[in-house]
Amino acid sequence: MIACSHPLVRADGGVDPLRVMVDLTRRCNLRCGFCASRSDDPHPELSGAALLDILRAADERGVFEVTLTGGEPLQWPGLEDVAAAGVRLGFTSLQIATNATLIDARGLELVTALAPRRVRISLDGPVDVHEQVRGPGTFARALAGLRRLRSCVDQVEVVTVVHMGNLGRWRELTQMLVAEGVAAHDLSPLHAIPGCGMVPLTPAALRELKLEIASMREDLPAAFDLRLSSMAAGTPSLSAPISELTGAHLRGLYVLVQPDGTLLRGAPAKPGFPSGHDQLGRIGDTLMDRCLDRHPMHFSEPAPHALDLSWAHPAALFGREPRPLDSTLAQHIRDSPGRFRVRRDERVVLLFDTGTFRVHVVSPTAAARRP
Ligand SMILES: C[S@@+](CC[C@H](N)C(=O)[O-])C[C@H]1O[C@@H](n2cnc3c(N)ncnc32)[C@H](O)[C@@H]1O
Ligand code: SF4
Repeated sequence: MIACSHPLVRADGGVDPLRVMVDLTRRCNLRCGFCASRSDDPHPELSGAALLDILRAADERGVFEVTLTGGEPLQWPGLEDVAAAGVRLGFTSLQIATNATLIDARGLELVTALAPRRVRISLDGPVDVHEQVRGPGTFARALAGLRRLRSCVDQVEVVTVVHMGNLGRWRELTQMLVAEGVAAHDLSPLHAIPGCGMVPLTPAALRELKLEIASMREDLPAAFDLRLSSMAAGTPSLSAPISELTGAHLRGLYVLVQPDGTLLRGAPAKPGFPSGHDQLGRIGDTLMDRCLDRHPMHFSEPAPHALDLSWAHPAALFGREPRPLDSTLAQHIRDSPGRFRVRRDERVVLLFDTGTFRVHVVSPTAAARRP
């Protein structure tokens, strides 16, 4: 039996997130040329108590995954308090994103105290390419951090920002990561910021990259996940990495917490609000629960989102009607039910596989109810 199950739509008509991204701080020990997330002025930033509140609320509300990022999470002063609190999540998987250069013995202790399901490390290519972006000596330090993390965390994956300048070099890194026992290599196209001096992928280069990934996959171990990051993807597929659940059309299913505690959730773009976010309040001033239960006033729509649930129809969220549970997935569930987390309503069942980090969207047929 799958023990962990939460509704997709609550009895009061509210919808709790599937994914929460937490920007803990803007502090960082590195100065990567393409990054807008680091700053010399670290304030404001979340407190340890605020993060503990976020994690508790996420776990109680059936959030599939919380990602801690920044800036650099290892530079966030609240980490000591949260590590000392001994966080243990029953439903939610915790992911930590780090540059891995601060994973010495103490850094490892702090990270493992949080019991993350997955750690995501940035390496931007082989040593010369990586250090052009991140500075001298950073590759060896990150690799040492990666090896320490590999010894304690099951799922370590690497993310590489790809742009026209390093396009020819990611394969060397993939080969190295396979040898290091890393679980996945995620290629993430650059979003160029002004003055970064790097050229984003052209549409033709992106098409070529997709073909190269498909061809290289054939030569890699089946368990190794080489993929193109789907952060910018529009509509997730019916069997998608959880990182695909990020688009504005997913509304409250994906939320972002900024370092000052501001909680944003996706929303269709509105006049004057092109980023497509609703601001739901500030954690720290108030609690995560209050923010999530708040029905924001909308600037271009008469009704609050939480009352108009047409957007939460599976066909609207995933672009097609869900299918019944297939026999392979059913077998995986029978073999290791504890690996799965479930959110469901009368129209859809979302199964989060905490082993592969994929979300499977299936119809609530008799077959899907059986597990
Ligand atoms: C902002 S960092 C925070 C976590 C940590 N400091 C790190 O470097 O992994 C999160 C991810 O965003 C990526 N990133 C930063 N700037 C980017 C940009 N302009 N385009 C695409 N990815 C970017 C980083 O390489 C990293 O993988
Ligand atoms: S290490 Fe991460 S947060 Fe720091 S500058 Fe680089 S990408 Fe940005």
